[in-house]
Amino acid sequence: MARQDHQSIQAFKGKAFLPALTVYDYPTTRLLDEVGIPLLLVGDSLGMVVLGYPDTTHVSMADMLHHVQAASRAKPNGLLVADLPYRSYETPAQALENARLFRDAGADAVKLEGGEEVAQQIEAILDEGIACIGHLGMLPQRIAEEGTYRIKGRSDEERERLLRDASLLDNLGVTAMVLELVQPALATEITRRVLTPTIGIGSGTGCDGQILVTHDLIGAFPWFRPGFVSPKLDSASLIQGAVKGWRQEQSRIYQTFLAQDPSPDSA
Ligand code: KIV
Repeated sequence: MARQDHQSIQAFKGKAFLPALTVYDYPTTRLLDEVGIPLLLVGDSLGMVVLGYPDTTHVSMADMLHHVQAASRAKPNGLLVADLPYRSYETPAQALENARLFRDAGADAVKLEGGEEVAQQIEAILDEGIACIGHLGMLPQRIAEEGTYRIKGRSDEERERLLRDASLLDNLGVTAMVLELVQPALATEITRRVLTPTIGIGSGTGCDGQILVTHDLIGAFPWFRPGFVSPKLDSASLIQGAVKGWRQEQSRIYQTFLAQDPSPDSA
């Protein structure tokens, strides 16, 4: 796969399916890049699946930078996107400062949650020449206000707001936009209306691409799995099976050693 950038990601629109997955470390980034995933997101889902926080609002810039640096050491050809964490883009100046830190840490683009309310932040980042990914629908960084993760776009008000925000992001010139838990018919409608590739998560099949938390796809975080994910692997069981097998094997070897090697006292 050739090195991805804003143009090559946009070129997926209407031509080829755009797969995207999360990465948080060097080996996973290398593995997913070697199979040609064109968009690799160091998501703030890091907070839950790697750092053990209850939600993404606990993730700091320091946490993110540590993992963006690790992922970027894999030098992926895929577009390496870094999630601006909770409260790291409250003003255009703060958004720009943190986007620069991600760029310096090796990210090709940044992602931030929201529409109209973050338009100036997106403009500031784009004016600097840093590519930006939008994120609409259920916004995990607003979980405290929302109370629960739920489908967005069922009411007329939410539907109008999402259509407006999608069109705004499209006009601003984001590289792609994530649609999270958007009512599927509305996600399809947005996908048909905008020139920017849409990347769905829990928003049905009418999007230009799909993104998943890699841990959900490979069953690496068995204690919680969103209902819309069909894991392709049960890596948690494979890991536990390998560990049990190793322990039993080594216990047997040790018993053999004890039986064959008399202690100094009995020699
Ligand atoms: O943080 C994340 O992993 C995300 C996606 C899954 C879209 O934002």
